[in-house]
Formats: sequence, structure tokens, C-alpha cells
Amino acid sequence: MRILMVCLGNICRSPLAEGILQSKVSADVKVDSAGTAAYHVGELPDSRSIAVAKKYGIDLTNQRARKFTVNDFDTFDLIYAMDESNYQDILTLARNTEEKLKVKLILNEVDLNSNQSVPDPYYGGNNGFENVYQLLDEACQIIANKIEE
Ligand code: 4NP
Repeated sequence: MRILMVCLGNICRSPLAEGILQSKVSADVKVDSAGTAAYHVGELPDSRSIAVAKKYGIDLTNQRARKFTVNDFDTFDLIYAMDESNYQDILTLARNTEEKLKVKLILNEVDLNSNQSVPDPYYGGNNGFENVYQLLDEACQIIANKIEE
């Protein structure tokens, strides 16, 4: 099983989603993350994401930002978008129905069909990162439980 987490910059939300989910599943489940934009390619996750993850025992410092590519539809079984905008941007790149069906809004795992977004914490303070952590921890626990079934 291969799972990709996607946000805009791949420095705040999706690196957290990657780290949290990988911490909850066995090593043979491959978890990665990417961004729909290229602004931060090659960079470490945001220091505030690194800090909140570290607080809960998760290390993000081996991650580097990369841009989502159409080849990711071949590599991954499931692609989780953090917000509605990322979701639409990924769907636009899908080449067929099978690829479209791989793309999901991550918070719909918590509340089916609610179409809630993980708020972008980039321009806010540390509280936003704690909130994002808690939202993603809940969603990733549900995803992990389904995978390990
Ligand atoms: P992310 O947050 O999509 O959760 O990684 C952002 C990071 C950078 C920018 C926007 C959102 N930016 O505009 O540079």
C-alpha cells in the first residue's frame, strides 16, 4: 500500500500528515507527501511543523519538499488532499476515472462527505500548527485502522 499526502507548499500540512500516518502503520506501508506548488521544493518542512511533530515524538527532518507530478497517480494507491483547492488541482491532472477515484479529501475520513479542509497554518501562529496536528492525528488514526484491518 502506498499513500500520498498533498497540500500547497509541502512544508506545513502534508509533511505532518506523512509523519503522523507513517508513525501509525508498519514500515511496508509507504507514505510520502508532495505540494501542488513548487515554491518550496527542496526545503525542509516549516520549523513550526517540525516543532509540533517533535512534541509528539515524530521526526520530520528527513523530509524535503517536492512538487506533485502526474506520475504520482501511477505510484500511489491513495492520494489525500489537505484542502478543497489542492483536491481540485490534483483532480485536474488525473487522466482517467481510476486516477480520479484515488483522490480524497483527508478530513472526509473523519466526517464522511463533510468536505472540510485542513486550514492552511502558514500565515498564522503556533496555535494553527497544534490545531492542524490534532486534525491530522484523528484522520490518520482512522486511515491507519483501515489499512491494518
Ligand atoms: P502548506 O502551507 O500548503 O501546508 O505547506 C503553505 C506553505 C507555503 C505557502 C502556502 C501554504 N506559501 O504560499 O509559500
